[in-house]
Amino acid sequence: MSSSIPLEAARRRTFAIISHPDAGKTTLTEHLLLAGGAIRAAGAVRARGETRRTRSDWMKIEQERGISVTASVMTFDHDGLMFNLLDTPGHEDFSEDTYRTLTAADAAVMVLDAAKGIEPQTLKLFEVCRLRDIPILTFINKMDREAQDPFDLLDEIAGKLALDPAPLYWPAGSGNRFKGALDLRTNQFIPYVRNADDPTPAPVAFKGAAISSYLLPEEIEELTDNSELVTGASKPFDPQSFLEGHMTPVFFGSALRHFGVEELLAGLGAFAPPPKAVSAMRANAQTHVAPGEKEVTGFVFKVQANMDPNHRDRIAMLRLCSGKFQRGMKLKVQNTGRQLSVNSPIMFFAADRELAEEAYAGDVIGIPNHGVLRVGDSLSETGALRFQGLPNFAPEILRRVRIKDPLKAKHLKKALEGLAEEGVTQLFRPMMGADFIVGAVGQLQFEVMADRLANEYQLEVIFEAAPFAEARWISAERADLEDFTGKHRNAMAEDIDGQPVFLAKSAWEIGYVDERFPKVMFSRTRERG
Ligand code: G4P
Repeated sequence: MSSSIPLEAARRRTFAIISHPDAGKTTLTEHLLLAGGAIRAAGAVRARGETRRTRSDWMKIEQERGISVTASVMTFDHDGLMFNLLDTPGHEDFSEDTYRTLTAADAAVMVLDAAKGIEPQTLKLFEVCRLRDIPILTFINKMDREAQDPFDLLDEIAGKLALDPAPLYWPAGSGNRFKGALDLRTNQFIPYVRNADDPTPAPVAFKGAAISSYLLPEEIEELTDNSELVTGASKPFDPQSFLEGHMTPVFFGSALRHFGVEELLAGLGAFAPPPKAVSAMRANAQTHVAPGEKEVTGFVFKVQANMDPNHRDRIAMLRLCSGKFQRGMKLKVQNTGRQLSVNSPIMFFAADRELAEEAYAGDVIGIPNHGVLRVGDSLSETGALRFQGLPNFAPEILRRVRIKDPLKAKHLKKALEGLAEEGVTQLFRPMMGADFIVGAVGQLQFEVMADRLANEYQLEVIFEAAPFAEARWISAERADLEDFTGKHRNAMAEDIDGQPVFLAKSAWEIGYVDERFPKVMFSRTRERG
């Protein structure tokens, strides 16, 4: 029945967690899954060092917990809603991948370490959310440790992010003196139990007699003063302002101790938006695709290599934007016109990978394929639709790839293209010379890449300093483009889609050519599709 399509879409909550490494994203992920009933037990996540940096956080969880979460998304049905939690890689070197994942999220949870506040990576990720108008819920974590003054933390959110913090709860103390949190809307106090084996007590009325079992008189007084102060000083939570990205509801808790997590999940259910209409092009005309529309549409935001290195197939992560997807359905790729029968789509339930029988806007399905699908591809039943706004980011580090055995050069080309198709690194083919230039957002990606080339493709490579430091996509009228290209042959390259890229020796050089060629646009990002 087609009328169920808008209803199904409306009960989706697709979100990601953003944070600086170590703020507690992995722990919170695990505890949200626990709160959502997707897993039964949580345990300490202990991966450290190399494993910790190179693996996705969820792979860590999988190793530790023995559950199958080797996925880019975890789906769980809770309280009448379908939650899709998108994994964002933990290490800052993978930020481009993270940016892409955020294109598929409708909301984000920003995790702050209560002792550290806003850290550099938090800020970077926040900027991406703002760019995409993604509403943000804030979870101030690790209240069971000594924390900064919560008022200072709110000031920091307001000052550094230009975002109105609207606390929904207020903590009673922190660290050894952490006693719980007051629900500022209901005036119920949620006690924190120090001993994890003790049962969690039910919330009690802050103004009632039972509060004295949890708080000392001076603590009651302090919490009364603080809650009055914060209610007077901050704007009340306004759902509309949150949806527009001006305001963030603030939760306090301890992911590790499962405190405040249920409240956060309830907040996500109540405030985070269902999928909204997405802008797209259809036959050269601008349009909006509403989640309740009948045609099945979506875009690929990530391509993941098969976890089994012996299998070369890849899994394209398709974020659905409309319609009711059914297994076996045929979808067309807009830019190539290729049609594929999606016979074995994967949906990622926490407990297991399952074949997706049906899915709706907001859901993510994994489509196994052999390199046909790429990051940024738009898929739909008609193949006529192209979604906008999946940017490629200018890499921050460029390296020249050299192979130890020159007889394997052809093999190298295929391998590099394969890795670039996953969208984690970028590949540039200079117009002059035979060496490839690989771009990445961080140094670690080159190490991971060398490792993967050796293990998955049996290729030994060296990444050398490249004669370039910056890459910019260029665009202009044809004559201007030819003029520019003609004058800069040694610095011109193509990206994996054949788009022209200017490679510069320094940022200064970009400023210089930008001034001399006013009709040429130099761009740090390129929208695919
Ligand atoms: P990340 O994914 O954001 O990088 O952070 P992760 O969850 O891995 O947490 C980083 C460290 O912070 C871990 O400690 C974790 O146990 C701890 N942590 C997370 N949430 C809380 C919290 O609410 N309270 C306290 N006290 N600690 C928290 P670790 O020592 O690095 O690892 P482990 O040995 O405990 O596993």
